[in-house]
Amino acid sequence: MDQYESVLKRLEKTAIEYTNIAPENGQFLSILIQSIKAKNVLEVGTSNGYSTIWLAAALKMTGGKLITIEFDPKRADEAFSHLTEVGLDSIVNIRVGNALDEIPKCKETFDLVFLDAQKDEYKQYLDLVLPDIRKGGLIIADDTVTMRDEMPDYVDYVFNTSTLNSVDIPLDDGIILSYKII
Ligand SMILES: C[S@@+](CC[C@H](N)C(=O)[O-])C[C@H]1O[C@@H](n2cnc3c(N)ncnc32)[C@H](O)[C@@H]1O
Repeated sequence: MDQYESVLKRLEKTAIEYTNIAPENGQFLSILIQSIKAKNVLEVGTSNGYSTIWLAAALKMTGGKLITIEFDPKRADEAFSHLTEVGLDSIVNIRVGNALDEIPKCKETFDLVFLDAQKDEYKQYLDLVLPDIRKGGLIIADDTVTMRDEMPDYVDYVFNTSTLNSVDIPLDDGIILSYKII
């Protein structure tokens, strides 16, 4: 990540304003992408592109591509300019719109999906994307400790369905990592 470090460090100064993930969560996502050699990844909730840089940098190593969805056009523009600055723009397709409308338009089969938009919509995002995640694919939901009370339907589903194996990981604001069994 050395070549992206100066931009990541700069963006970390405004992480609260843009509600970015912590660097250790970025590292975790990067390790997952490299471990499963992910080729197609979906991010729901781009903000200014901090997590997007982590995801795209890992996908550059695997030869993969990222779709990221953000409904605030100003934030999407900022994300594009940060991705261009680090030379990762060709790996990323930024879709500007509501994830609830944009997810059904995706034609890819995803290896990994990262959920970090509106917490009370996580279950809806999952319902829309789950059929398009491959067997053995991963779903990572962020803020699952600090904002758990806003996603009761998501938490209940991922820990009780026979389709997924899920685990709580207390990294920064909390992550639920789910593995698609079937
Ligand atoms: C927590 S921030 C994402 C932070 C980003 N993943 C990072 O770590 O750098 C959530 C973002 O999701 C966007 N968002 C919320 N609900 C959305 C929706 N339904 N569709 C698209 N974007 C949404 C917000 O505008 C906000 O920029």
